[in-house]
Amino acid sequence: MTRRLATTGQRLQRGPLLQHFFLTLTSRGAAIRGHVSVRAVPSIPLPDPELADDAIRLREPGEADVPAITRACQDPLIQRFTFVPVPYSEEDARTFVATAPRRREAGEALALVIAPRDGDELLGTVGVQRFDREHRTADIGYWVAPGARGRGAATRAVRLLAPWALRELQLARIQLDADIDNIPSQRVAERAGFVREGVLRSVIEVKGRRWTEVVHSLLPDDLPASEPPTAGAPRR
Ligand SMILES: CC(C)(COP(=O)(O)OP(=O)(O)OC[C@H]1O[C@@H](n2cnc3c(N)ncnc32)[C@H](O)[C@@H]1OP(=O)(O)O)[C@@H](O)C(=O)NCCC(=O)NCCS
Repeated sequence: MTRRLATTGQRLQRGPLLQHFFLTLTSRGAAIRGHVSVRAVPSIPLPDPELADDAIRLREPGEADVPAITRACQDPLIQRFTFVPVPYSEEDARTFVATAPRRREAGEALALVIAPRDGDELLGTVGVQRFDREHRTADIGYWVAPGARGRGAATRAVRLLAPWALRELQLARIQLDADIDNIPSQRVAERAGFVREGVLRSVIEVKGRRWTEVVHSLLPDDLPASEPPTAGAPRR
């Protein structure tokens, strides 16, 4: 738990995050220092204006997405290559949607829905999570519903969200892990500008399987000097 919290007494970074923080009391600090210390954990702002290009936009998940998320997460590839629970129930989708604002406020994760540029339909999801505040790193993950695949939705979503997170959350590195057998996801990483770093053999065990992961990363220096502004509309 403490891994996600800023170090006691750590100064908040200047910049956008400064307006978005809450204070957490930690008993661990109390044990070490003999008093209760206050740690500042930056919450994650919603991208504003909304992240969008000429085909997709990234919006907050809502109650109306529950049926589409439930349906998509029955897909064997999503079940195999992501951390979604198996079996996946409507209750799991409800929990995902209902806890998204809290996880964002707590600085734990930003989960967004990939939707068509001019619509609300859920094409997939994309998110940044597993923040390490000390080292200013996070992971990016995504899935696209089977019927919406092969049209660039995942690549576009990562191209929008990863640079935003590097800049606005002042990260030094975003990591993207794809299973060694997940070629489409590795293509997404490459096409979104991530650098392939190597293979971690049998690195985790999830859902009864040892996963061998291809690690990719994106650093601020990998971004074009002047990223064109996103064609985002004001948040609805
Ligand atoms: C991986 C995934 C998100 C890709 O979504 P997508 O929107 O179809 O991806 P894109 O359209 O941006 O295409 C990315 C690349 O994958 C390729 N691709 C897409 N579907 C493919 C398939 N069924 N077989 C092989 N390649 C495929 C595309 O052709 C493209 O590669 P290219 O540039 O060489 O043409 C989607 O397949 C998915 O949700 N898979 C299950 C969940 C998952 O793996 N999540 C990522 C965990 S790390």
